[in-house]
Order: sequence, then C-alpha cells, then structure tokens
Amino acid sequence: MASIFLHCTTTASSPPSTKLHPLLSKPTPFISHASRSHRQPLHISSCVIPNQKNSSDYTQGKLDRRNILLGLGGLYSAANLISPESASANPVQAPELDKCGAATNLNNQKVLDINCCPPIQGDIIDYKLPPVHKLRTRKSAHRLSPIDVFKYNLAIQRMKELPEDDPRSFMQQAYIHCAYCNGAYNQPGQGDLDIQVHNSWLFFPFHRWYLYFYEKILGKLIDDPTFALPFWNWDNPKGMTIPPIFLDSKSSIYDSKRNPDNLKAVVDLGMTKIKDPMQLVTNNLTVMYTEMIRGNADVYDFMGQPYREGTPVSPGPGSSERGSHTALHVFVGDPREPSGEDMGNFYSAGRDPLFYCHHANVDRMWTLWKDVLPSDKVPDKNITDPDYLDASFLFYDENAQLVRVCVKDCLDTRKMGYDLQRIDLPWLDYRPPIQTALARIKRTSSFFPKASTLFPLKLNKIVRFEVQKTKKGKADELLVLEDITVDTTKFLKFDVFVNDEDDNALELDKAAYAGTYAQVPHKAPKKTSTTSIRLKLTDLYEDMDIADDDSIVVTIVPRHIGSGVTIGGIKIIANPPKA
Ligand code: C2O
Repeated sequence: MASIFLHCTTTASSPPSTKLHPLLSKPTPFISHASRSHRQPLHISSCVIPNQKNSSDYTQGKLDRRNILLGLGGLYSAANLISPESASANPVQAPELDKCGAATNLNNQKVLDINCCPPIQGDIIDYKLPPVHKLRTRKSAHRLSPIDVFKYNLAIQRMKELPEDDPRSFMQQAYIHCAYCNGAYNQPGQGDLDIQVHNSWLFFPFHRWYLYFYEKILGKLIDDPTFALPFWNWDNPKGMTIPPIFLDSKSSIYDSKRNPDNLKAVVDLGMTKIKDPMQLVTNNLTVMYTEMIRGNADVYDFMGQPYREGTPVSPGPGSSERGSHTALHVFVGDPREPSGEDMGNFYSAGRDPLFYCHHANVDRMWTLWKDVLPSDKVPDKNITDPDYLDASFLFYDENAQLVRVCVKDCLDTRKMGYDLQRIDLPWLDYRPPIQTALARIKRTSSFFPKASTLFPLKLNKIVRFEVQKTKKGKADELLVLEDITVDTTKFLKFDVFVNDEDDNALELDKAAYAGTYAQVPHKAPKKTSTTSIRLKLTDLYEDMDIADDDSIVVTIVPRHIGSGVTIGGIKIIANPPKA
C-alpha cells in the first residue's frame, strides 16, 4: 500500500486515451449498474503535503494517524472510523473516469439510470494555481450592473453553444455534479464504495473547485479573465428572493424547471413553509446565526465530518450544508417534476444556472465563517488532517485540459484569484432573545418518556422526550444524533428544540431552537445511508438559563411528509468530548 501511495504521479492504471462523448460514441466509458467493474487499486493521487515530501516520513505519518483514529471510537459515529481491514487512512482519491458508471435517481418510483460520465480526453495534469494578476470580485446577484448582467448572460449563452462533447459545455458542466453526487464513480480500489462529495468535509472544497473552473471557463468564453460568478445573497434580507435577473425567460440564465410559487417569494431557509414574509426573514436570520455561530463546537460541525478512503459515504453534513444550502435547493426545485428537477435533486441541479449562483454564496459562507466566527466559539477553524488536505478531484479547466486538484490548494480564495463584494451580515447579531420564562417544562420534564425508551426512532411525527445531561451544572455540552438512516431519494428535514413548549414551532427565532438536519434527494438505489450530526448546546443553555438542570426536554419536529428517517440514538456529551 505504502509504495503505491508514494509514487505521486498521474494514473498508473489508465493509459492516456481519447474518447468521444459517451452519448455520441461507442464504445463508451459508461458502464451499466450491474456490470460496473471494480478492479485495481492503482489510482494515485499526487496531492501530497509539501512538508512531507520525504516518503518514509509520510508513510509513517499515515500509519500513526490511523492508530490515533482507531483510538477515538467514541468521538464520531462508527461509519466514520477506519475499519481494521483497510490498509491505512488515506484521502479519498479522484475518480477513474474510464470506470464511470450509471448515476441513478428515483423517477416516479422507478430507479432510473443516468449517463452523466464525462468525455475522456488527454492526460491528467496536476493543477497548479496560476499567478494572480487581478482578483475577480464575486458580487451579489441582486446588485449587478447592467454590463455585469450582459457579460454573465453572454458567457452562459456561449457555454450553451459549445458542442455537447466539449467538457466545458453547459450540459457537461451539469453532468459533473450528477456524476460526483448520484453514484457514477466508485472510490478507486475500494470495491463498489461510491464517491460522494456531499455530507462530509469534502462538501466545501469540491464545490469550490467546481465553481472555480466553471467561472474560468465562462471568463474564457467572453475573453474576460476578470469575470466572476455572482452570488445569491440569500443571507441578507435584500437578497432573500430569487435574483430577478434569473427570471427573464429570454435570457440564457433562465430555467423553466423552478417552483412557480417561489419565483418571487421570500426564501425559506427554515423550510417551515410558513407564509408570513416578516416571519420568514426572521426565521432566515435565525437559521443563519444558528448554523454559522451558535450551533457548532468544532470545525467538523461546520465543514462536515471526516470522510476517508475506504469508508462509507455521508458520515455527516456540516451545519451550513444541511441547513441553508439544502433549503435553497428545495425552494427552487420544481415540484411538478418527478424528482424536483432541476435544483431539487443533485443529478439535475447543475442544469439551472441559478445553482452556481447559489453555490457561490455557499462558498462565501465558508469564507465568512472563517472570518467572522469568534475564536472562542470554535478553537481551530482549519482542518489540518492530511486525509482532508490530500483529497483530490478531476475537472476540465478553461482550456479543456483534464486536471487533478487537491483540497489543500483551495483554502485561500485570493490565491485562487477571487474575492467577495463586502455586504453587511445582519445575521451576525441574531442571537435569539433570552427565554428564561419556560419554567413549566422544566418542572414537568420527568413526565416525558426517556430517550432510551424511544430509540431507534422512526421519525414520522413530532416527538418529545427527556435526555439526561452529562452532569448537573455542566454548561458546555453537545447533543449528538447518531446513526441517522436516511432514504437518499427523498427530501427530509427535521428541527431540534430544547425545552420548548410549542408543539410545531414555525417561528425559529427563539432560544429553544437548537438546529436542523436536512438533505437534498439524490441517488437510488442502495437507498439509505447512515449519518450523524452534533448540535452545540452551550449558548442555548445560557439563553434559557438551564445549565444547572439535570436533564433537558428535546422536541424533534419533522418537516417532511411520511417516513424516511430513522434516528439510531441520541445523547448529550461534554464539550470538548473526552478523547
Ligand atoms: Cu453539490 Cu448544492 O450541491
């Protein structure tokens, strides 16, 4: 294993090949579900860490780290740990394009195979960020100048005019998301374990690189290296509708597959379906505050849980991914379409130009989180684990050159050549009001069932139960929801409240709101995956004056219809967790 890993050059197994787009040619790299081949572990990443170039040190580091990981049994869900059989902890490797198989989706209750494999052309080059001469400034899509709008439309128009087998064409760019998210790729050398770029620490870096090349391609098509994608500023009341530039049916950035009821509506980041626009704005700012500031105890709670080679997909999404990010996919997707196309399912999301504008704001959240979160909230906002830094993906750059990129090269947007228009952040001061009056529920907490009697819990209605704190007076704690098994083909969402007397809280702007789980529908079959989330309770205890209690009353409110989520267990742990 070690010696394979150390030859840090391009693929040993896939000789350079030039093939036409799978839709246009045969034979094709598209492999149907049943016959996808799972041979050979020889795909090699070159994303090594510069200060670990010495090969033996690097190997040693890997092995040591694995031992440490194995010792952390209680910290993360079992799905997250390296199984003793796997040779070592390694980063998730870029896919082998020639082994791309069918992506899948559930369409009118039938599993549908989708061919979204990319064309394969040329050798893979390890991507080096070019020197930056002038920064590209990403601006709010609600504040673009007419010339910015014109350029944006022209660039997308030209992308749509590229031949379909050009890897930079509009549909090929959309297929990238389908392939990485609906199960077209296996992890190299790891049997039929999928590559999935959601619900883990790969979420932010993958999408950052994806948008980076998308933006560079658009800039090249209009011969403007300063072209920057606009962001949908949904975290600010002034940006809380679909940006009007996307509603002109004659423009190239229009998409007819959007929810007609939401074209001019205030966005619903809380996914409560409440109608009052004032309350929606309040909910939205509370959701932002909770997922950016209040609800996370460590960097993984925000970024997503560790995801390594040989481990199952979806170890746990970060707060931003499962919150505002998911909400807008669902808000825009068209309920008249079988799978909420385009935005409402990962396989089709990239077909709506609004998707990239949405993700430009998701990407902005990563930057803002690092900038504005007080460091006493989360001690370290960077992930230094080599399995994160060395994870890699493949894209085609603006010259249609196939390139391999590493997570570690996308951590600084200015080195990538872009920065952000500065806009005020009203959610920063949205800590919910102190809510100490709810003494009733404290006194009656012992009348509620104990958590231990209810779990595993099939979540199809509102549940309320008592959970024991780690100890009386412990002020710094986390609520852990473990082994959340989800049907990946469905929209699912639930909110968690603590000591709340309201039965179906549609107003989220209160101290009792602890956080959210939500997912965008994606691949089928193998329809379930198991994930976990953590919600920090420290500020909530303070806001509700309940740090001294022995136990809390948790309410879980599902926002989806029907079943689809089973929560394996729930518990409170001390923060920081004991190693
Ligand atoms: Cu890759 Cu918003 O999804």
